[in-house]
Amino acid sequence: MDDPTSPERAHPTVRTTRQTRLDTYVDRYATRTQRMKASEIRALFAVASRPEVVSLAGGMPNISGLPLDAVAETLAELVMDHGTRAMQYSSGQGDPGLREQICAVMAPEGVVAHPDDVVVTVGSQQGLDLVTRVFCDPGDVVLCEAPSYVGALGVFSAYECEVVHVAMDDQGLQPEALRRTIAAVRAAGKRVKFLYTIPNFHNPAGVTLAAERRTQVLDVCTSADVLVVEDNPYGLLGFDTDPIRALRADDAERVVYLGSFSKTFAPGFRVGWVVAPHAVREKLVLAQESATLCPPTFSQLAISAYLTHHDWQGQIKHFTTMYRERRDAMLTALDEHFPATASWTRPAGGFYVWVRLPPGLDASAMLPRAVTARVAYVPGTAFYADGTGTTAMRLSYCYPSPERIREGVRRLAGVMATDLQLREMFGATDAGVPSRGYSSPHTDLT
Ligand SMILES: Cc1ncc(COP(=O)(O)O)c(C=O)c1O
Repeated sequence: MDDPTSPERAHPTVRTTRQTRLDTYVDRYATRTQRMKASEIRALFAVASRPEVVSLAGGMPNISGLPLDAVAETLAELVMDHGTRAMQYSSGQGDPGLREQICAVMAPEGVVAHPDDVVVTVGSQQGLDLVTRVFCDPGDVVLCEAPSYVGALGVFSAYECEVVHVAMDDQGLQPEALRRTIAAVRAAGKRVKFLYTIPNFHNPAGVTLAAERRTQVLDVCTSADVLVVEDNPYGLLGFDTDPIRALRADDAERVVYLGSFSKTFAPGFRVGWVVAPHAVREKLVLAQESATLCPPTFSQLAISAYLTHHDWQGQIKHFTTMYRERRDAMLTALDEHFPATASWTRPAGGFYVWVRLPPGLDASAMLPRAVTARVAYVPGTAFYADGTGTTAMRLSYCYPSPERIREGVRRLAGVMATDLQLREMFGATDAGVPSRGYSSPHTDLT
């Protein structure tokens, strides 16, 4: 019965809230919000950050080795000597002095850029957002490696792009698969807006695009007239190599390059950058101005002062020595404890190992059992837009100590062994999700 005196009648939103839903704004949000979802990694953080859990899940840079006293002095000087400038609005394109320093940071990768070509962003994550905002209409196709960076997939989804994955293997993106995928997408009547690629020390796959493939990937994109977005936050974190030549170094007109200080210095400043062809750069500055007016002046000047007064290259060496030790601990523990039917990548830099599980195991289904055994990882599905990835997981070695890494891998191997036993006794429970339509089959890394 409808009661005319009820509070629901006087205040329809009260009724709605009480009876059917908690969010009274649910009918008012833009359609695009339906595609925004918390990443699997974020959902895991609460459990994974408990001290008893060894987290091989998050990709937080390990900045415990930063010389905090020296950084504090630099920041104090910045406030004392340039405080009113540092705390003021500034250029939408970013501080000119920092842009010049950014060009020097990229020089070892063969990138020849003028400070005018650089747009400073709030982390490279904002670079991804601005590039997508400038290029993509709903329904446009973005090509991504299979698997790809979860934060990029989130941006592409928020702008209502269709992500189509391209197969990769231990040598990185497969140029022939790229060529076939572009042709198939076009045959389906869709527009490819760009290829998004992480050529160095890939997140999550841990692989690096082989030198000969770099030329081939650029050749494919040139003949198909596809823009390349090269995301390179880990490029200077190689363990055994000099910096690797960037794709941007070989085609400044076709490649938009994204860089970041998050892994080479500290993520809390939130400073990254985009290097783009001139016309694109102008659009990016307009987009940046509408998003933030200007990137944070204080952070930019702090990074600039750090680059000027500190041995930042020495600090990167310190980081890579630490990460190499952790990578070694993880690979040795995997060799020792994981079953022969699992396989994994052997990263030459960066933070991540990609594990292909023994046949029949499902990384998402196994996760609650792993957390109960006090170890966490990210299931492979987080890194695909098309529901694949159930048979893989990402392990990060960047943050825990080598001892904790060894213990985490040992615990995980125990969980896997139990799952394999169960499977032997009762058979498979999950068949995995087949890849969709014209996506290339992700045979090699899943
Ligand atoms: C491949 C990749 N791109 C971009 C980012 C974003 O980095 P930031 O916004 O801190 O520069 C990350 C962070 O983990 C990443 O792994």
